[in-house]
Amino acid sequence: MDRILVTSAIPYINGIKHLGNLVGSQLPADLFARFQRARGREVLFLCATDEHGTPAELAAAKAGKPVAEYCAEMWQVQKDLSDGFGLSFDMFGRSSSSQNRALTQYFAGRLFEAGLIEERSETQIYSKADGRFLPDRYIEGTCPNCGYDRARGDQCENCTKQLDPTDLIDARSAISGSTDLEPRETKHLYLLQSRMRDDLRDWITGKTDWPILTTSIARKWLDDGEGLRDRGITRDLDWGVPVRRGDADWPGMEGKVFYVWFDAPIEYIAAAHEWADANGLSEADWQRWWRTDAGADDVRYVQFMGKDNVPFHTLSFPTTIMGTNSVGAEQWKLVDYIKSFNYLNYAGGQFSTSLGRGVFMDQALEILPADYWRWWLLRNAPETSDAEFTWESFQAASNRDLADVLGNFVSRVTKFCRSKFGETVPAGGTYGEAEDAVIADLEIRVAAYTAHMEAIEVRKAASELRAIWVVGNEYLQSAAPWSVIKEDEDRAAAIIRFSLNLVRLYAVLSAPFVPNAAQKMLDAMDCPADWPDDVRQALSHLDGGHAFEVPENLFGKITDEERDDFAARFSGTR
Ligand code: 2FM
Ligand code: ZN
Repeated sequence: MDRILVTSAIPYINGIKHLGNLVGSQLPADLFARFQRARGREVLFLCATDEHGTPAELAAAKAGKPVAEYCAEMWQVQKDLSDGFGLSFDMFGRSSSSQNRALTQYFAGRLFEAGLIEERSETQIYSKADGRFLPDRYIEGTCPNCGYDRARGDQCENCTKQLDPTDLIDARSAISGSTDLEPRETKHLYLLQSRMRDDLRDWITGKTDWPILTTSIARKWLDDGEGLRDRGITRDLDWGVPVRRGDADWPGMEGKVFYVWFDAPIEYIAAAHEWADANGLSEADWQRWWRTDAGADDVRYVQFMGKDNVPFHTLSFPTTIMGTNSVGAEQWKLVDYIKSFNYLNYAGGQFSTSLGRGVFMDQALEILPADYWRWWLLRNAPETSDAEFTWESFQAASNRDLADVLGNFVSRVTKFCRSKFGETVPAGGTYGEAEDAVIADLEIRVAAYTAHMEAIEVRKAASELRAIWVVGNEYLQSAAPWSVIKEDEDRAAAIIRFSLNLVRLYAVLSAPFVPNAAQKMLDAMDCPADWPDDVRQALSHLDGGHAFEVPENLFGKITDEERDDFAARFSGTR
């Protein structure tokens, strides 16, 4: 598999995302995409904003703007923030794109042909006070599954159960708060995902290498008769993809749009089309990533998402793909691997967009550069359980890992060299036993690091990377070139040459985690970023006579006072 397709769950358009959102999908996806590119693989890394549905409409109404205008503005805000965090998407698209509209209508048409979409008359909740139906987030109430009293009409945030508005107990309108609601008859399309139960089960059963978090959630919904019930995929809303069957009208569905969770995952595909269009590429160029009948056989497709998104990606979206593939010649790719994450909590509670609790992406970048956040978040990624952000832990990771270990090593080596040999790699001496020992140690550690990154074991990779930095510090401490140079200048030259090579090695290995610092290191060493498949060779890359520059200080320390200030500033709500 030499081509890797990576998608991150597409963030809702309604507002700036917090660090918990970031670490649940976009950031680890970026880590993986950067790593795979560094390994020489052809990568297509896609994300987008999720612009339809009630969250967008409600947020636009609150901002007092037409929804299209609101979405265009918020797309730019989210795009700038993702650039700020160094998220290296090949395309950051929009689910409201014309490409997604066409693909969504195409898939609906195919699913209808496959007999997997049915028209049903049903009762929906109508609010007399608001003069409209209340789909999804327009309605709130108590979850029948877990009793959470702020469950939304589409899903309970607390227990992740997918819901219908009619399931809610003590329902109220999210627009007006009115409880004067009544059931009314209306016609909608249903995706008959229950018919795919056996296919879905066989498919999931074959995924023995998937994270347990992913498969356990998928199984729970498969085995629970409720979990895989047929889902309404249309809504009485103005904003969204108009219901059509491919290019044709859909009689009886005039004025309705597809449900946001139907068109959002299709945006993964549409984003590739947007990418091709934005870069002057052809249909074939994006389809070779997505259609196995058009060259996508050698693509490995990896998705990243928070646990609440797993049901949609293991049941609903695969139903769309499998169902479509069952009719017609076009064969679309199913996901090969789903990496899912638990939640990140904030200082003893939950991050919350609606309450403005926690640290949001814009605020984080105002305080410190992206690499500090990337390092803490990835090193503490909520993989096997929920994780907790505290300012103490953030300060410790920044100071102890980035400043004291990585930054300090780079600074000591380059500054010592400049003062004794100038800004040129010194040529004297040869590597000896001490260097051999480091090489042997690093051969094992770099292999372990690479394996963890391949397996998307984010925390394990981070701790191995830190151990790799520590090896250099310990080597420098015990080789002590500042003492050796008094007796044996050649030996000191060999130690420093080896250490400068370690700086380059660290730049390459660290780039997926801390890309900005890594780039400064590479620029300073003036050398290419080849992945160290052969550690011994990699550590002889910089030869005597190669010019370098001392990089500016890579990481500052967070003082106790700053830490306390941050904690106080972010203790309330936004
Ligand atoms: O939970 C969310 O933030 C959704 N906007 C994720 C959608 S992912 C996919 F389906 F596109
Ligand atoms: Zn619940």
